[in-house]
Amino acid sequence: MIQIAQYRETFIEYLEEKVVLTEPKNLYEPIVYILQLGGKRLRPVLTLMTAEIFGTSHTKALDAALAVEVFHNFSLVHDDIMDGAPLRRGKATVHEKWDLNTGILSGDAMLILAYQLFENYEGPIFKALAELFSKTAIEVCEGQQYDVDFETRNDVTIPEYLRMIEYKTAVLVGAAMKMGAIIAETSEQDAQGIYDFGRYLGLAFQLQDDYLDAYGDPETFGKQVGGDIIENKKTYLYLKALENSSKEDTKTLLRLFSEKSEGTDEKVATVKAIFNKANIPETMKTAISEYTQKAFKVLQTLHIGDKEKQQLQAFGKQLMNRTV
Ligand code: IPE
Ligand code: IPE
Ligand code: MG
Ligand code: MG
Ligand code: MG
Repeated sequence: MIQIAQYRETFIEYLEEKVVLTEPKNLYEPIVYILQLGGKRLRPVLTLMTAEIFGTSHTKALDAALAVEVFHNFSLVHDDIMDGAPLRRGKATVHEKWDLNTGILSGDAMLILAYQLFENYEGPIFKALAELFSKTAIEVCEGQQYDVDFETRNDVTIPEYLRMIEYKTAVLVGAAMKMGAIIAETSEQDAQGIYDFGRYLGLAFQLQDDYLDAYGDPETFGKQVGGDIIENKKTYLYLKALENSSKEDTKTLLRLFSEKSEGTDEKVATVKAIFNKANIPETMKTAISEYTQKAFKVLQTLHIGDKEKQQLQAFGKQLMNRTV
């Protein structure tokens, strides 16, 4: 059985071979920059691993894996513009290093490049991949719009939040895995099963992302710690804190999350103190673990061997304990 680290290595080699600098430089430099900036390579690894788990060589899945990673990086370039984020993977974001227009157009080009990679597949596999990709990409846009809409709302509910993160993040993790299943021409039932596994893992992943945004170590996290608080993001942390705080703290939270504040460090410190009082770190750990367990439950329904199930489970556990 191929190890996770090996999938990552194979993928990075393929990416470096395929993503090369061409003219015009101002379009392609930012694309090469963001794609070479590292990152966990979580989604492409899942595509490769899934193809292999369903009985096909992972090499057949390299183009789909690259498409998923290029799309993901496109979404990050535009997301960083929308979130006003200065840092990505410990380096300047594209719109900070270049400018807004560069971020917009390089992002657009990446979206097309991602789609183009599916042209390397033929017949029913191409059709299934392209359909899944289009459906997923539009859902990511919907999720991103909800995320932005929620910044200026003070009545966001937990079900609304969960739908938002399902769209902006979880469906792509599910799709990354289902693509591996499509390439391996597995049964519809298993393809749907692995999609659901990825979707639940994706929900846990975004909960963890929200947690790390407030509680990550600034030295290693690679993004601006407290960015979500500064941007008034209605995360699970915030929504649960509203449920579990005193009247006075609730009032403070509602006020701080309805205005664009100047003293951002002070805002982050005040909000985190309220989060701590409301036991939010514990709440987050529980929620992340619950969604990971939901993913593991789906795993039991799949028609794959025990070793393969264990590999997927190990991946899920690794994700749960990540710090970046
Ligand atoms: C960041 O994704 C955006 C989210 C959906 C949370 P990752 O945390 O996978 O980012 P990289 O690719 O590893 O940097
Ligand atoms: C990002 O969510 C989701 C997408 C990029 C589609 P976040 O805005 O939380 O991601 P980070 O924290 O900037 O990586
Ligand atoms: Mg962001
Ligand atoms: Mg965002
Ligand atoms: Mg985030």
